[in-house]
Amino acid sequence: MPFVDATLRAEIDALAPELTTIRRDLHRHPELGFEEHRTGAVVRAWLERHGYTPRSCASTGVIADLHPGHPGKTIALRADLDCLPMPETTDLPYRSIHEGRAHKCGHDGHTAVLLGVAAILDRYRDRLPGNVRLLFQPAEEGVDGGGAKRMVAEGALDGVDEVYALHNWPGHPRGHIRVKPGPMLAQTHWLGITVHGVGGHGSQPQLCRDPIVAAAHIVVALQTVVARGLGYDGGAVVSVCRFSSGTTDNVVPATAELEGTVRTFAPEITELVLARIREVVHGTAAALGVRAELELEPGYPVVMNDPTCAHAVHRVATQVVGSGAVSDAGLPIAGGEDFAYMAQAVPGAFFFLGAGAPGRDTPGCHHPDFDFDDTIIPTGVAMFMGLVADRFGI
Ligand code: NI
Repeated sequence: MPFVDATLRAEIDALAPELTTIRRDLHRHPELGFEEHRTGAVVRAWLERHGYTPRSCASTGVIADLHPGHPGKTIALRADLDCLPMPETTDLPYRSIHEGRAHKCGHDGHTAVLLGVAAILDRYRDRLPGNVRLLFQPAEEGVDGGGAKRMVAEGALDGVDEVYALHNWPGHPRGHIRVKPGPMLAQTHWLGITVHGVGGHGSQPQLCRDPIVAAAHIVVALQTVVARGLGYDGGAVVSVCRFSSGTTDNVVPATAELEGTVRTFAPEITELVLARIREVVHGTAAALGVRAELELEPGYPVVMNDPTCAHAVHRVATQVVGSGAVSDAGLPIAGGEDFAYMAQAVPGAFFFLGAGAPGRDTPGCHHPDFDFDDTIIPTGVAMFMGLVADRFGI
């Protein structure tokens, strides 16, 4: 008899309205990384109500153990708490009340899912032959290097055997699970280029070293790093996302600034792509008589799914959503996730829970019109409950 049976599903469904209310409350009160004070208080109050003794970690993070000090296995489940520094442009009744802050990645939903798991686990406490550690992580969106790294450094995964996390994904059909062993999300690098030329009068370009023209050539040349440098199976993204220079129409400026992002999935490809970027940037600058300053700062590492853990997610998903709704299509995704640090510390798996509404283009994560789909909360809870049961062999 599977653990995620009709009885458990009914319990989860009965809890769903309350979880939706919490999710919308969190949506209304979004908080940036390491500022999740109110969110943390909501999480703590819920956990205490359900028999846990929560503790702080990584400043605004919260941890709770189902069976503290249990000699059996410990399975950790992670949700992220923070919002994005972007405006809320929707007219939702629970729209953000904070200017320039909004839950546009669905971390409000991830938190609600894990709170649901906490409540259901409480009812099954006596049946579980081990510990479940709930990790409510601050600052996934990259503030000060991210909250996951800090949680790991502060011992959040000490004694943990395996760790799991999910992310909603509107690009996949609602309720579908996508998972695979190996790379799930990208290694990110921040790319910064300052082109130093010689400014002057717009009417006398011959006396200048135009940094705008040189930077434009650099942007174009960078397009060859992936398209001409890697084969079809290379897998990398190089995007210039900011080009800024000049102050008026008749002055050739002295500098131009470019900013962008690099996404890769394997160390050897990362090395190759970064080496080509250096050659292309400095070579193009030299050819055009300007000097380029290049910075490549590593962000989050690749989220690497442990094969055993990824197979467990696949097995559980087959039970929870059915085999027709589980696949590895579209993976890996070129986004970055600091769950990578947790999956480096102990074996783990990250999976996507589809949130695409049938028959329409659902706004994706970080889109101004994005909103977490509350109807997938029960599937998220069932997935985590199924994983706990699978890993404890019950
Ligand atoms: Ni996110």
